[in-house]
Formats: sequence, C-alpha cells, structure tokens
Amino acid sequence: MEIADSTQAIETLLEEGRRFQPSADFAAQANAQAGIYEEADRDVEAFWEKWARTLEWSKPFTKVLDWKEPFARWFYDGELNVSVNCLDRHVRADRGNRIAYYYEGEQGDRQSITYKELLGEVCVFANGLRKLGLKRGDRVAIYMGMIPQLPVAMLACTRIGVVHSVIFGGFSPDSIVDRVNDARCVAVITADFARRRGGTVPLKHNVDVALAQTPSVKHCIVAKRVGDPIEMKPGRDLWWEDVVRGQSATCEPESMNAEDLLYLLYTSGTTAKPKGIKHTTGGYLVYAAMTHKLVFDLKDDTDVYWCSADIGWVTGHSYIVYGPLANCATSVIYEGTPDYPDKDRLWEIIERYKVTILYTAPTAIRTFMKWGAQYPQAHDLSSLRLLGTVGEPINPEAWIWYREHIGGGRTPVVDTWWQTETGGIMISPLPGITTLMPGSATYPIPGTYADVVNDKGESVPPGGGGYLVLTKPWPGMLRGIWGDDERYVETYWKRFPHKYFAGDGCRRDHDGNYWLMGRVDDVMNVSGHRISTTEVESALVGNPKVAEAAVCGKLDDITGQAIYAFVTLRGGQNGSEALANELREFVADKLGKFTRPKYITFTPELPKTRSGKIMRRLLRDVAEGRALGDVTTLADSAIVKDLEERAKTEIAQEE
Ligand code: PRX
Repeated sequence: MEIADSTQAIETLLEEGRRFQPSADFAAQANAQAGIYEEADRDVEAFWEKWARTLEWSKPFTKVLDWKEPFARWFYDGELNVSVNCLDRHVRADRGNRIAYYYEGEQGDRQSITYKELLGEVCVFANGLRKLGLKRGDRVAIYMGMIPQLPVAMLACTRIGVVHSVIFGGFSPDSIVDRVNDARCVAVITADFARRRGGTVPLKHNVDVALAQTPSVKHCIVAKRVGDPIEMKPGRDLWWEDVVRGQSATCEPESMNAEDLLYLLYTSGTTAKPKGIKHTTGGYLVYAAMTHKLVFDLKDDTDVYWCSADIGWVTGHSYIVYGPLANCATSVIYEGTPDYPDKDRLWEIIERYKVTILYTAPTAIRTFMKWGAQYPQAHDLSSLRLLGTVGEPINPEAWIWYREHIGGGRTPVVDTWWQTETGGIMISPLPGITTLMPGSATYPIPGTYADVVNDKGESVPPGGGGYLVLTKPWPGMLRGIWGDDERYVETYWKRFPHKYFAGDGCRRDHDGNYWLMGRVDDVMNVSGHRISTTEVESALVGNPKVAEAAVCGKLDDITGQAIYAFVTLRGGQNGSEALANELREFVADKLGKFTRPKYITFTPELPKTRSGKIMRRLLRDVAEGRALGDVTTLADSAIVKDLEERAKTEIAQEE
C-alpha cells in the first residue's frame, strides 16, 4: 500500500472521537504507574538495566548496551539460561505447584501442567536431545501443532543452548525445505499429526516429503498426537517417548551469553526468500517479560492469561511461551479452531478457566462479529478484565464490539503494534495509564522511541502521515537476518539513515497517538499472517501453465486483506474456474493453505510500463475497484480496461 492509497481511510480514522479513560479502580492497581515514561526518558539504559536485573543471571552483566549501528548488543558480558528463568527460578521460589498451562485439546481433552511438571518434562527431553548429540549452537526445526510438547521442545532447546526455528504447522513441505536448509538444521521435532477442525493435518508426512531435500538433518523426533499409522525411517526417525525414556528429570543448563542466539523465526519480506530473523538470549527475554507484565498488567498470582495465537508465529513465542513463563503466569493453550465443535468454543474456554486476560487478532474479532453476539452471550465472561489485539490494524467498530460484547463494556482494550523483528510489543497503551482510542495503538511503550517520517526521512508534524520508524535500539530488537547481514542493513536501515524502517504506513495525531495504516511494501497481511506478494507470484509461475503472475492484497472486511492474483497463461491458453482452483491448490501446496489466493483473474497481458515493469499500484486499484489514475505511462492502456471488466466478474463471483 502506498501512503496516498490509504489517505481516505486515515481521514475517517482520525475522525474517531471516542476516548476511554482508565477507570480509577484499574488505575489504582495497575503494574504501570505514572512517571514510568519519564523514568525511561531520563536514562534509557538505566531503565532497561533495572528490568534486566529482574531476571536471574548465572553471570551478572556489567555492560548494558553496545550500539554499533545497526548492530546492538545488550547486557553483553552477562550469562543466563532462558529455561532456568522460565522454570527453575519459580520452582525454587516455592511456586512449582502453580499452573503454567491449562491445556485444552480440540477434542476436549484437558491437562493442567504445573511449573514443576513442565521443568521435569523440559529436563528429560533436553537430556534426550543431548544424548542424540545435539549441542550448543546447533539449529533444530520444530514443526508441530499446538500441543504441550511444543513449548517443551522450545524450552529444552534453550536449556542446552540449541537454537530453535519453529515452523508454523500450516506451512507446506517446500516451506519446510527452505527454512531447514537456510539454517542447516540438524534435527526436526514434529508430531504424527495435528488436530484441526475435527480433522487431522499430516505433519510427519509433510516432514518426510521435505526431508528428502534437506541433507543437514540427522534426526527426526516425532511426538504422538493422534496415533494413526505413519512411516518411521529407521536410523533417522525416533518417537518422542523413546527419546525421553530413562532420562533424568534434572538437566544441567548451559550458561549462555546474553548475545547467544536464542531462536530463528522466518518471516516474509519483499522477495521470495523468507528472512531468518535472529533473536538472542538476554535482551529478548528481558523485553518479552517486561512488555508482558506491563501491557497485560499481569498479576502472576491471580490472572489466567490466554493468547489465542499459534506458537508458530512470533506472538506465540513471546506471549505464550517466553513472556508468560518468565513472569510465572498461568496461561491457557488451546489446540484448535474457534468454531469447533461450535462457534462458542473460545467463550466456553474463557468461562471454564475463568480467563482474565485475552489477547487475539482483529480478524478473529471481525469473524466473531459476523457470527453474532449470541455466542459470547451464552457464556459467563465476567472474569475478563483486560483485552488485547495484535497483528493488523483494528477498525474502530471491531474494537468497540470487542470491548462491549467480550469485555462487558468494562475492560480496557490494548491494541499492540509490533513485528517478528521487534521481538515484543512496541506501540501500545499501558492499561491504567493510557487513554484508549479505538483504532489507535496510541504511543511507544516506555524505553522505546518512534517517529513518523516523510519520503526524505524528515519527521512529519502532528496530524501528518508517513512511514513509521524506530529511532533507538531496544533490547528485544532483531540482531539481524541469519546468514545475511547485508539484507538486514538493506531492508531496515538503508531507507532512512539512523532509523529502523518498519515497513508500515502511519499517521500521528495532534496528541502524539500513532494510527497504523498497514504495510507500505510488497507484503500482505491476511488474517494477521504476513505473506509476501513475490512469494505467491513465484509459487504461481512455478506452475507449468503459468507464464506470468502479479499478486496484490485486496482490502477484505474480515481478513484485513485477501490475496488477489492476476495471471497470464502460457501459449495463449484461456483460464477457467477449474484452472483457477487448480492454481489455488498449487499455491497452497507450495507455500501453505493460508496463502491460497482468494481471487484469480486471467488476463492475456499484465499492465506494464514502457520499460516492462508490472504496474502493481494499478493492479491494486483494479482489485479494490478504485478509479484508475494516470495510465499514460502504460505500454498499452487498452489492457487495463479489459482487466477492469475481468476483475469485476471475478470479484462478483467470489463475494
Ligand atoms: O503491518 C504491521 C502488522 O503486522 C506486521 C508484522 O507482522 P508479523 O511480523 O507477522 O508480526 C505480527 C504480530 C506481531 C507489522 O509490520 N501489525 C502488527 N500489529 C499491528 C499491525 N498493524 C496495525 N496494528 C497493529 N496492532
């Protein structure tokens, strides 16, 4: 999206006049108290140092920040272990019997897992991994559904200094291949199947297909979730239960340097190759813990917290695993979809566990609105005291609906802006302090600094719009892209000197509130999933029938954006609905089901400039039914008229 495209949407948003002051009761008990922003501004390094000291260090740090732009090192002479901070520390403090996770399987199977139990499971699995020869610095891919073994596997890696790379369970074998090969993973941890919407997803089969092309992988460890037969390759594949058999429930943790790699998480950029985002040990954990405590106002002894994201995305890493566990929180993990067996599943879970804090995505909220308020109304949601959203801009109506129908008109709603790269929440209200505005993530949290700049990198005065940038290093920031420092510098630090370019359009109002407007690059956001247009294009042209493809996001009432593909076939072939479906499946197979294009329009030619560049901007206008601007730079403007007609037919058909 370019800034101009969203001007109208911005104007509408900025007319949003509703304001919600914190209630006196909430403010009085809030973790964040007035003065915290000033405290950070006075001495930002001292501020982060104070938070870092709340963790347990096996070797205390004496240095806070080394900033050689754009490379940061935080707390860099200190050593710690993440699993010790997430588990042992609480068990030693006599909190071992607290529930770490209430686990809710899709079929209604349930488990309560205490901190002590979780520590035991992490230790036996970590010992099993060590016995297989895995060691500090090795990379391991994890491809699982939302089952308790997923956080156990992540924490076991951190225990022995192994770097995990979690691959979302919705990804296809090809996507596994790319990620495993890029990081040269030595092992893959998976499950036989995942349960989803009453059916199953063949995780192990997908891994088998992928592992035919991943020479670095020596071991594949398989947790049993469903129990239907699968193939096990002798010498390579091992059942989880065999890995842990006979292992001790104590495991000496590796003392890791604060800047040792903790994990890689691949995310889409503007090219077809995903980026392995690097997060390190100390700064990341400090940041995840601090933001979780302040933004969600977490009271570790009374709250039941639920983030409904998948652990395969960064939201799950920071706010299901590392932040909550570092804070000794009690969380819910739910395996399945919100509509199984019926559309009230989430509300049933909230009622059962008396959830107090819920964190979910705007797409989900818009879907709940569509389903109707009768579903939440059928349940007692009075335990909720705070709601959060993440992943995409939330329209004010969805925000209001969320507060009214889920939050009973009482709860604060925190709209949290951040990215895989930022490691944790950057722009968000602090409940109890900030006046809330539906549609605005308000302003940067204490100790972080942002700006909105124009094309030249100049700060835009209040009321203006431009590009969101981050202006100072923060502990949770990415440390680079795996194996590609140049791309790191190029992507985030070249566009505006000395500023981190986030890739989002943003407007700031006269009170300094940030209104996020969506991506300004070739990245789409579909149901909060970040998908590169180029990745979908290159998947499409991988089909022998396709000559050329151009992909863009089209605004969508429910999913934020939907994928729109314009396709030219080889040899003058004509398109058909059957072929469109074939291509949808083709993309789904290549990249994962969530990347299946909603709209496909066949065209004998794509609109190009005289120099042969596809005019994407124009395709977005066509997709969104906007009046077309200047088309005189086009090589053949008749194509566009024809394309508009074809798009109208396609849109009418799909909606
Ligand atoms: O465009 C922004 C959008 O999601 C992008 C980051 O995607 P990802 O790395 O997958 O992380 C998603 C979860 C942290 C951002 O560049 N985004 C995320 N949160 C918001 C948002 N856009 C508007 N408002 C938000 N609260």
